[in-house]
Amino acid sequence: MIFQQLLKLIVPVLLIFLRESLSLKSMIIRVPEVAKSGDTVTLSCEYDLEQVALYSIKWYRNDEEFYRFVPKESPPFRAFPLKYVNVDISRSGPNDVTLRGVRRELSGNYKCEVSADAPLFHTEIQGAHMLVAELPSTNPVMNIEPNKVEIGKKIKARCYSPGSDPAANLTWYINDEEVKRYSESVKKFPLEIELDQALGLQSSRSRIEITTNRSHFVMGVMTIRCEASIYTLWRLSVEEIVRDDSPQLAPVLGSTSSQSHTEEVIDSSNSNSLCKNISLIFLTLLLITLR
Ligand SMILES: *[C@@H]1O[C@H](CO)[C@@H](O)[C@H](O)[C@H]1NC(C)=O
Ligand SMILES: *[C@@H]1O[C@H](CO)[C@@H](O)[C@H](O)[C@H]1NC(C)=O
Ligand SMILES: *[C@@H]1O[C@H](CO)[C@@H](O)[C@H](O)[C@H]1NC(C)=O
Repeated sequence: MIFQQLLKLIVPVLLIFLRESLSLKSMIIRVPEVAKSGDTVTLSCEYDLEQVALYSIKWYRNDEEFYRFVPKESPPFRAFPLKYVNVDISRSGPNDVTLRGVRRELSGNYKCEVSADAPLFHTEIQGAHMLVAELPSTNPVMNIEPNKVEIGKKIKARCYSPGSDPAANLTWYINDEEVKRYSESVKKFPLEIELDQALGLQSSRSRIEITTNRSHFVMGVMTIRCEASIYTLWRLSVEEIVRDDSPQLAPVLGSTSSQSHTEEVIDSSNSNSLCKNISLIFLTLLLITLR
């Protein structure tokens, strides 16, 4: 009697233990977090059945099954029609399923369900999210006003990235240094996102206002870059330069023209020869007075 009662207690514990040891704990699902529209994407599921044969593997998108692989059936695979899902049968099997030409509409939760064969038919399910992004159709566009400036004056820069899904992030760089937030010399306005209802795409706009100072110009030039990005999937930038248009303090006799970087270099050699010329004149004057 006591033995039977003991058995009643032990058996469930043993069963739990057995199930645990046969569980598909090592199961790993691999789904790209982000893919771009048009890509061919392979989803995979790794599992260890510990000596037991595979009974079936099933793939779901948002709980709708679209592919199944059952080794004992003939043929072992079945693809179920699901809108926008295009399974590449030749590149799908007991571990992977390949989707051709994914579209934005296929963003969602993907699950793989693995069942071991008799006696336990142990089943495990794992899921992951995939986002299919639509990239902008063209490069970002930047506009700088004005592109020649006197130090101390303001510059307005605008950047635009056309429709994408999700909206592209826009990041500004001045002389390769990222513009992080509002500072005394750089005012950064919040990103504006505009939705095109018909296409379901979003365009991004950003603008900054720079109150120029001497440290912004390297050899008379400031470089402004706008980078559009969508996660780590895509990144494109556009760059323009702004020239220092300040009146030059180093006097060049007879020259009132504004200087750009290249002119400045000439100027410095000019002022060198000017020094020599002045020295020469001084020397000549000295010689005349000494006579
Ligand atoms: C000049 O601009 C730089 C970069 O924006 C800034 O860090 C610095 O404080 C500014 N200097 C002055 C004198 O305003
Ligand atoms: C935009 O940037 C933010 C902050 O870095 C990031 O969390 C977000 O995922 C980015 N979005 C895109 C579409 O790249
Ligand atoms: C210095 O003198 C030479 C001739 O002696 C002349 O060609 C040159 O233009 C002068 N430089 C300046 C900056 O006036």
